[in-house]
Amino acid sequence: ILQGLDGRHVVLVGLMGAGKTAMGRVIASRLGLPFIDSDDEIEAASTMTIPELFENYGEGEFRDLERRVIARLLGERQRVISLGGGAFMSAETREAIAAHGFSLWIDADLDLLFSRVSRKPGRPLLQNRDPKGTLARLMEQRYPVYGKADLRVKSEELSRDAMAGKMIEAMA
Ligand code: S3P
Repeated sequence: ILQGLDGRHVVLVGLMGAGKTAMGRVIASRLGLPFIDSDDEIEAASTMTIPELFENYGEGEFRDLERRVIARLLGERQRVISLGGGAFMSAETREAIAAHGFSLWIDADLDLLFSRVSRKPGRPLLQNRDPKGTLARLMEQRYPVYGKADLRVKSEELSRDAMAGKMIEAMA
C-alpha cells in the first residue's frame, strides 16, 4: 500500500465528530507512518487554542492560518494527516491535497456526529443554542464538497481496527 501511495499523504476529511483523529491514528500505525492533526499544528504554530483563535481573530483569520499550516504539512514528509472539519472547503487546500495526498472522507450520520461532539465540548462553531441544527446545516453545505475526496467511507458500527482495515484495503 505504501508503494501504491507513492509518497503521498493519507488525508482524513469529515465533520467534527466523524472520528478523523482516532481513525487517523489507527491507519498511521498500520501503515507505519507518522500521524499529525492539523488542529494541533495550528495550535502549536499560533501558541493559542482553537477557541482562543476564533475568539481573538475570528473565523476568517483561522481559515487563513489553517490553509497555510496544511500547505506546509503537505510539503513535508509522508504522513497520515487528520484535517479540521472545515479545511477541505478551501479549493486551494483541495488542490494541494489532490497533488500530494490521498483523501479519505469519513461519512457519518447526524446522530453519531452529535453524540460524539457532545462528549467533547469546546468547538467554537457549536457554541450556540442549537449545535445539532448547526451540524445538520454543515452536513448540507459540506457533504457535496467532501464528496470530492478520493474515497468515501461510511462510518459504521465496526471497530476502529476493522474500519481502518477496510480503508487500507480500499486504498490499495
Ligand atoms: C472546524 C472543525 C474543528 C476545528 C475548528 C473548526 C470546522 O476540527 O478545526 O473548530 O469548521 O468544522 P475537528 O473537525 O477536528 O473538530
